[in-house]
Amino acid sequence: MCGIIGYVGDKEIVPVLLKGLHCLEYRGYDSAGIAIHEGYNLNIIKSIGKISKLEEVLKGKKRKESDRNNCGIGHTRWATHGEPSDINAHPHFDTDEKIAVVHNGIIRNYQEVKEKLISLGIKFKTQTDTEVIVQLISQNMKDSRSVLKAISKTITELDGSYAIAVLFKNEPDKIYAVRKEAPLVIGIGIGENYIASDSTTLSQFVDKVIRLKDNEITIISKNGVELYNLQEEKIKKESQIVAKTKDILDKKGFKHYLAKEINEQAEVVSNLLKDFLPNSKDPIQFNYLKLDPSFLKNLDRILILACGTAYHAGLVAKHVLETLTSIPTEVQFASEYLSSNAVLTNKSLVIGISQSGETADTLAAVKKAVSKGAKLLGVTNRADSEIANLAKDHLILSKAGVEVSVAATKTFMAQLLSLYLLAIYIAESTNQANKTTLTNLKQALRELPQLIDQTLLRAESYQEQIVQYADKPDFVFIGRGIGYPIALEAALKLKELSYIHASGYASGEMKHGPIAVLDPNVPVVSICIPGENYDRVIQNSLEAKSRSAPMIAVAVDGDKKADSIFNTVLHIPQIAEIVSPFLTVIPLQFLSYYIAEHLGRDVDQPRNLAKSVTVE
Ligand code: M6R
Repeated sequence: MCGIIGYVGDKEIVPVLLKGLHCLEYRGYDSAGIAIHEGYNLNIIKSIGKISKLEEVLKGKKRKESDRNNCGIGHTRWATHGEPSDINAHPHFDTDEKIAVVHNGIIRNYQEVKEKLISLGIKFKTQTDTEVIVQLISQNMKDSRSVLKAISKTITELDGSYAIAVLFKNEPDKIYAVRKEAPLVIGIGIGENYIASDSTTLSQFVDKVIRLKDNEITIISKNGVELYNLQEEKIKKESQIVAKTKDILDKKGFKHYLAKEINEQAEVVSNLLKDFLPNSKDPIQFNYLKLDPSFLKNLDRILILACGTAYHAGLVAKHVLETLTSIPTEVQFASEYLSSNAVLTNKSLVIGISQSGETADTLAAVKKAVSKGAKLLGVTNRADSEIANLAKDHLILSKAGVEVSVAATKTFMAQLLSLYLLAIYIAESTNQANKTTLTNLKQALRELPQLIDQTLLRAESYQEQIVQYADKPDFVFIGRGIGYPIALEAALKLKELSYIHASGYASGEMKHGPIAVLDPNVPVVSICIPGENYDRVIQNSLEAKSRSAPMIAVAVDGDKKADSIFNTVLHIPQIAEIVSPFLTVIPLQFLSYYIAEHLGRDVDQPRNLAKSVTVE
C-alpha cells in the first residue's frame, strides 16, 4: 500500500508534496514524510501519524531562500514491515545519508538481502524492508559506472512488488523511479514534472501522464523525462491525456467524505443507467465489453473473485446471475482462491471486481484464473488501474467517481448496478431469460435513483433511531437469499467504521450456533423485505427476540408485522426483493456512520486500514 509523490520544478516544493500526499492519503496514514534537497544537503522530515501531523512538524522548520531547490519526494505509509513509528516512516536514508528512498509494496527477499548487507558491515536503523533497498543501491553504487546502473542492478536483486522513488544528494535536480507490480505514473508539466502512485493525484497538477510498466526506470528533471529498461537502454513512450478529476478533496459541505459519498448514491446510479440502460426496452449497452455470444452460450461456469465489499457485491451478483441465466456461479475471496484448486476451463468466465483495480489479492487471483484458461471480465471504478489493464477487452467501468473515504459505499452501489446489468446482458445475449422478466427488472432498475433519493432523505430519522445502540459491544446482522450479502456488508461496515465487533449471518444459520451469543447487549439487525424469504427471516428474528436481543429491522414502509415485532424499524420505500439490496444497504450504511460518529471515531480514515490494499 502506501502513496508516493515526487516533484521537480519551480514551485515551492513542500506545499506541492503535501498537496500530493493529501490526495494519496487513502493509501495509508500510519506515518508520512518527505525528502528534499536543501543547500548541499539531502534532508528528511517525517512523522508518525497522518499528514496533518507532518504538516505541523514542517511548520516549525523554516527553509532559507538560498537553500531552496524544488526537487523532492514524499510518502504516506501503511505499515507492513515494522510498526508505525517515526523511525520506520519513509523516506529512508542509506548509511551515508546520500540517498533517500520512498517505497510502496513489499520486498519478499528483504531478510536475505539484509543479512548479506549486514555481513558487509552495514548497520540498519529501521525494521522496514525499504531500508534494504536504499542500502543496496548505496552498495551497488560502489561498483557501478552510473546511478542508472546501480538502480537496475538493485532491481534485479530484489524480489517483490514495489514502486520506488529515489533522490541522490549529488544529483539535486533529478528523481529516479521504478516500479514492479505496484502503480507509478509520471506527470508531465511545462518546466516541471511529477511522479505519483495514481493519475488522479497527478490530474490535480498536470494534463498529461506516462504510465510506467514493470521494470521501467525513469529519471525526471525539471525539463525532461527519460525512460530506460533494465538493460539501461533508452525507451520511448507516448504521454496520454489524464482525465481531470477536480476537487477530489472537497467535502461539498458534508462533515465527512463518507456522508458525502453515501449521499451521492442516487446520482451514481442515475449516471450509470444513462450510459448503460437509457431505456428499459433496449438491450444493455456495454461499450467496453466484447464478449462473444457463442462463448456466453457455452459457459460452463462463472467464478467471481473479489475482496471485502466487492466480494459482497459479488455474492449479490451470484444470486442475480443464477436467477437470470442459470449458469452455475461461484464467488470466492480472491485471497482464498489463491490457495484453492478450483476447476476452470476455457469455457469459464472469471469476473474480477475491484473498486481500486489495484488490490493485490484480486490481481493475483485473476491472473491465476486466466492462466487456467478462463476469460477475464473486470469490474472497476478506476479506468487506469491494473485490473482495467488486464481486462481491457472485457471491462465494465463502474464510474462512481473518486471515493475518498476508506469505507466503500457509493462504489458498492455502482458495483451492484454494473453486475445486475451484466447479468441482464448475459441473459439477453444467450436468450436465457423470459423477455418480460428482463424488461420488468430493467424497469425496476430505472426506478432506483428516485427510490434511493427517498431513502437518503430519511438520514436524520435513521440517526435518531440508531444512536441509542451505540454503546452495544457486539452486533449481529441477519438476512436470507439476496439479503444475506447485505447482512455481511453491514457487519463489515460497522466493524471498520466503529470498531464494534459485528457478524453477518444467513438468518437460518443462527440456530446452528450463533444464537448462543445473543443477550440484551447484542442487537440483532434483520433485513426483512417482502418476497420469497420474508416469512423465514421473520421466523428467525422471532427466535432471536425470544433470547432477549434488542431487535432492529430494515423493512419496507407499511410493514405492520415488522412494526409490531421489532424495537426499531428502519423503513425504506417499498421495493421488489430482487432489487432490494440497492435500498436495504442505505440505512445500514447510515447505522455504521452514525454510530461511528457518535463514538468519535475517525470516520473517513479508520484505524489500521487503507483504501487500496496492494499487499497480499
Ligand atoms: O479496491 P477493492 O474493491 O479491490 O477493495 C476491496 C476491499 O479492500 C474493500 O472493499 C474494503 O473491504 C473496504 N474498505 C470496505 O469498506
